[in-house]
Amino acid sequence: MIDKPATTNYNINEFARFRWSPRSFDINKQVSHDQVMSLCEAARWSPSCVNDQPWRFIICDKYNDAAAYSDLLSCLDERNQLWAQTAPILISVIASDTFSRGGQENRWGQYDTGAAAMSICLEAKHQGLMAHQMGGFDANKIIEKLAVPQGFTPMSVIAVGYHADISVIDESFHKQEMSQRTRKDFNDTFFSSRFGKGII
Ligand SMILES: Cc1cc2nc3c(=O)[nH]c(=O)nc-3n(C[C@H](O)[C@H](O)[C@H](O)COP(=O)(O)O)c2cc1C
Repeated sequence: MIDKPATTNYNINEFARFRWSPRSFDINKQVSHDQVMSLCEAARWSPSCVNDQPWRFIICDKYNDAAAYSDLLSCLDERNQLWAQTAPILISVIASDTFSRGGQENRWGQYDTGAAAMSICLEAKHQGLMAHQMGGFDANKIIEKLAVPQGFTPMSVIAVGYHADISVIDESFHKQEMSQRTRKDFNDTFFSSRFGKGII
């Protein structure tokens, strides 16, 4: 099985280093209920603006509710469906548009929800699983199929499962799965004292 740890210049924690987004999962290996709940627990303890916890996560487990799983799978872009169908768990990540108290617009709702989603991805690694977030989906279809009420915005879908060999996915993905992970240079995105002033 390929592993693609980050090539780091500085020392970072092992979960950040070894997390990455594979496309090949083992559909025959069930993720336990306790593992799923650990993912939820990790997200639950994420920080949020005034502790409003604006995230909502809908877990669709193929082994638990195959119909709901195929509903969510059908909301993904065709190309995402092609590989995501190898993951036994699909999670719809949803942000509240407003604060739960007062009902005013929550400008940080999507920010907080993204942070909670990242907690899920890191916890997946901790549980011996892998996670892959997707933005390629039909948000209106998710709202309709998963009964998402007004005032909530679908942000992403996360595929979760045990990593498998790339032979389980279409050959058109293989090159990408084997390719090195890259990042922009530090100075492009990290600044010192002023916007645009590279940190190194
Ligand atoms: C918000 C978001 C949307 C993404 N959308 C897709 C997607 O639709 N399909 C896909 O294959 N990967 C998607 N990805 C995965 C990214 O391509 C991946 O995280 C990026 O290339 C960095 O690779 P790494 O996660 O392995 O470090 C998405 C990731 C994020 C955070």
